[in-house]
Amino acid sequence: MDVPYRPTELISLTYGLSLAESMEVLLLLFLSAFLIASVFFVAVIPGRRAILLDRFQTSKQKASVSLTPPRLITPHEKQRPVRNTSQPQYADVFPPHRRLALADLPSDALKGSGATGLELSKLSPDYSKPVPDKAVSNSDELLDRTTPTGYSVAEIKRLGDFPDYASLSGIPLPTAYEAFNIDTAMPRPYRPYRWPYHQTMSLSKLDHDFWLELDKNYVSVIEQRQQLFQQYGDSVIRALPGSELACKELMEMVVQFLCARYPQHFRLDRVQLVFHNGILDTQTDLNATEPLHVLLQHVPEDFAIMVRDPLTGIYSFRAGIIMSSLGWNLGSKIGLKLSEIHSPVPEYKEKMQFSMDRYFAKKPTDRAIQRGSWGLEVDQPLYMPPGDPQEAHREEQNPELTVDRVHLRVDWQTLRRLPLSGAVVFNFKGLFTPVTEFRNEPYIPSLILKVLKEGKRSIMEYKSTWHTEHVVIPALEQYEREQIDNGLIEKDWEPQTLDESPFFPGWEEKWHRQQGF
Ligand SMILES: *[C@@H]1O[C@H](CO)[C@@H](O)[C@H](O)[C@H]1NC(C)=O
Ligand SMILES: *[C@@H]1O[C@H](CO)[C@@H](O)[C@H](O)[C@H]1NC(C)=O
Repeated sequence: MDVPYRPTELISLTYGLSLAESMEVLLLLFLSAFLIASVFFVAVIPGRRAILLDRFQTSKQKASVSLTPPRLITPHEKQRPVRNTSQPQYADVFPPHRRLALADLPSDALKGSGATGLELSKLSPDYSKPVPDKAVSNSDELLDRTTPTGYSVAEIKRLGDFPDYASLSGIPLPTAYEAFNIDTAMPRPYRPYRWPYHQTMSLSKLDHDFWLELDKNYVSVIEQRQQLFQQYGDSVIRALPGSELACKELMEMVVQFLCARYPQHFRLDRVQLVFHNGILDTQTDLNATEPLHVLLQHVPEDFAIMVRDPLTGIYSFRAGIIMSSLGWNLGSKIGLKLSEIHSPVPEYKEKMQFSMDRYFAKKPTDRAIQRGSWGLEVDQPLYMPPGDPQEAHREEQNPELTVDRVHLRVDWQTLRRLPLSGAVVFNFKGLFTPVTEFRNEPYIPSLILKVLKEGKRSIMEYKSTWHTEHVVIPALEQYEREQIDNGLIEKDWEPQTLDESPFFPGWEEKWHRQQGF
């Protein structure tokens, strides 16, 4: 499913930003790129809202909508009244609850005495006493509090450790990946290029087999992340009070996912609460390990957990593990509300905040989404905290640079709501591919060339591709000529978003060949 995307605003948001600010906007990508399309669409054209939300909620993948936006916003146009955002607006707004799922659980799913799942499934949620998003002195006082998805903490406690999150969330567990070989595995070759650049935003329904994706770099990336933790500590991983339920739930969902997806490598002992990792040959006592540290030890991906403030219904960044950020880090953003995180983005408050907060307030648990953004990098900079010396590389076109050092960096992102705690979780991974790979990928060189040469300057600046272009453009031109000469692509092909996007024709064959399975 593609959602109409309005480039002009993004340009106006990013145009004229300094390098550091542009990189700050990467956060916009992580926290809001999912939403930019809808945000403007919803904010500006109320009559379109129903259509848009409908699209967001359609689960058909690649329904390929590319609506032409009815009109553009220009600075001259009348501004919508600025809302008083310090006033609670979403205190009464909740996502659709899924209490009916309780009826589908096996009869022993709820521990201890009390109503059965079937009985509980018929009760309406009582939102009058919401779970706080901060520390409480006595955890018993939480028991009758209700999460944004309509469960009381007492109910969540009765569900115990590792409840059936597939039923609870409405998003199935992944299928077992029997053929998978960790020694040769590669991530899918994400090439999220599109043209016209502004046409669509390529949001799609989460491909639930690929929420998390392991590859042959697993061991080294886990090691690298442990080192980053040693070096940066709570600048890269932290859980603020009020995020406990969400952190435990996320960890359990991740463990369930890994065990279902890669049964040859992972096993959970539900009685002892021990997680067996056959790749690293480790056992982790889940009862004695902080949930985010379980993720740190086993998952080479980033997570940001957004928790609802019960007074305002606004979400803030309360916990996470982030090791692939460029130009910002978790330490500088944790605890902030969505709007505060985006405060460097011009016009965010006037034009986006309302819709963004609203989207978070209502996001249904069973509608997870995914998308990719891309950039070109020298080598493979994964984590670049503010002020990192690597930033300087982006301000020069190094004459010594050779094409084999240039990589496509794709940040593949997913967004979903956790079913019990009601927290919203971003997950993302930074994936690097040498640009030389594009040589035999039909249409990809032409498509990137089109974007690099004709894409709006401001967007390209924001992507920070300039420092590689003196090397990449000639290489891609050569690949394009070769592809025409070899008959791989038509001579007069007019670059446009591929039907296979975010992949390319023949990607599966290449992917399987490279992995040997
Ligand atoms: C917004 O609302 C708050 C609380 O009701 C009030 O104190 C504040 O003055 C208002 N701000 C504006 C700009 O109206
Ligand atoms: C987990 O820890 C708690 C308290 O430390 C203990 O009471 C409980 O028995 C432990 N559970 C398991 C499965 O080890």
